[in-house]
Amino acid sequence: MSISFEVAHKDIAGRTGRLRVGSKVVRTPALLPVVNPHIPLIAPREMREMGVEALITNAYIFNRSTEFRERAIEEGLHALLDFNGVIMTDSGSFQLSVYGDVEVTNRETLTFQQAIDSDIVIPLDIPTPPGADRETARRDLAITMERIREARTLFPDANLAGPVQGGIYTDLREGAAAAVRDLGFTFCPIGAVVPLMESYRYRDLVRVVLAAKRGLSPATCVHLFGAGHPSMFAFAVAMGCDLFDSAAYALFAREGRYITPQGSLRLDELAELPCACRVCRGYTAEELRCSPERERLLALHNLHVTLAEIARIRQAIQDGTLWELVDDRCRNHPRLLAGYRELLAHAADLERHDRVSKRRFFYRGAESCGRTEVVRFQQTISRIALGERVLISFDGKAMPGFDDVLLFKPPFGPYPPELAETFPVGQSEIPDWDDEMVRCGCAGIRRLTAAHPGTRFAVRCGAAWLPLIREELPGLEVHCEQV
Ligand code: GUN
Ligand code: ZN
Repeated sequence: MSISFEVAHKDIAGRTGRLRVGSKVVRTPALLPVVNPHIPLIAPREMREMGVEALITNAYIFNRSTEFRERAIEEGLHALLDFNGVIMTDSGSFQLSVYGDVEVTNRETLTFQQAIDSDIVIPLDIPTPPGADRETARRDLAITMERIREARTLFPDANLAGPVQGGIYTDLREGAAAAVRDLGFTFCPIGAVVPLMESYRYRDLVRVVLAAKRGLSPATCVHLFGAGHPSMFAFAVAMGCDLFDSAAYALFAREGRYITPQGSLRLDELAELPCACRVCRGYTAEELRCSPERERLLALHNLHVTLAEIARIRQAIQDGTLWELVDDRCRNHPRLLAGYRELLAHAADLERHDRVSKRRFFYRGAESCGRTEVVRFQQTISRIALGERVLISFDGKAMPGFDDVLLFKPPFGPYPPELAETFPVGQSEIPDWDDEMVRCGCAGIRRLTAAHPGTRFAVRCGAAWLPLIREELPGLEVHCEQV
């Protein structure tokens, strides 16, 4: 195996990194456009010039093609497609599961993928549909695992991917992931998620992906199979997905759909082209609609915005602003918002992967209270050493008779003045206090008081906060300032 993965920057459970396949390097997160040799909408060479470092194509299509089969074997995929980056080949499992009978064996597809000089070879996994019962999912998974082991035994030197299946059953997903981890795979696609994404089941997607991530090593490069719409990339990266493959750029173009990072629009309904790519700046909406090259031009635009979103995500990870980007993107569809809330419900898991310091924390409403930084802050704060009498001062003013005075910043909670300049307190921007964030800060106070049973705490706050404090912190001594 000559696949390796190296993480550079982290944010939430997302990361930027480098996937090395032989002597080739793919910067991650990355998008692999799906290339179909029968539908040459954008040449792979042109994609390369747009910054594409890897693509994915389907071995099954090549194997059944009278036009391309022999050429692929003789010339190899790189020459045939005229692409010198990384080429991943899919086994066609997914097509087979959608379109019918299996006419290919695991050994055949593995042999063929190597014969056409694929850089990353995928065994014939079984994508279990979300509606399958547990027993079916378990049986499918057992076959998938058997094929992965067979692939390893037959071709110990191949650059094999280890797909993670298991349907919607989180224990099966975690077990499958642990099994491929134990087999030593550094590259793992998470499969059978297309039907979840197509039906906007983002909450289930979160459960399935996080279950798989729990079983995998953090050093594994994770590909989310079949995820091609940029509106959910940031969200998926936050969970720890590193690669996506997109047929959407082409499929949407065929249907006259114009992709934006916020969602897709029908070209027929557009009066303007709100994008900076050369297609959108070179044509009016009307000209694009009427162009004989409309499908290709639309595909070019779609691919441009998809790649730009990947670049934006990489930058956000370096800056530590991925939560803000996720928040932005997930507000564009109520089902994505539901997925985002599910993600926040797993903040305690995600916190373990998150980095220590970030450029900033912008409060963007109630969801921000659930962020990993808040979870971590409240865990950390309960560990500070304190005297016998402690005042938590909302307005920053001290009072006689206390050993320590802590300040208070919602949504985080109480903190010693020495931490005023450190992340997240010092680099967070919050609007005027609202109930939601102050309640969240009170949860921080509860953690602190629970961790110091021998200390007497008091809160000093303005009269406006008194009812909320009484509700959130019953029994706590309160010094109310009339202001
Ligand atoms: N493409 C989309 N989903 C899948 C999957 O689960 N397995 C494979 N091999 N390819 C896919
Ligand atoms: Zn454009």
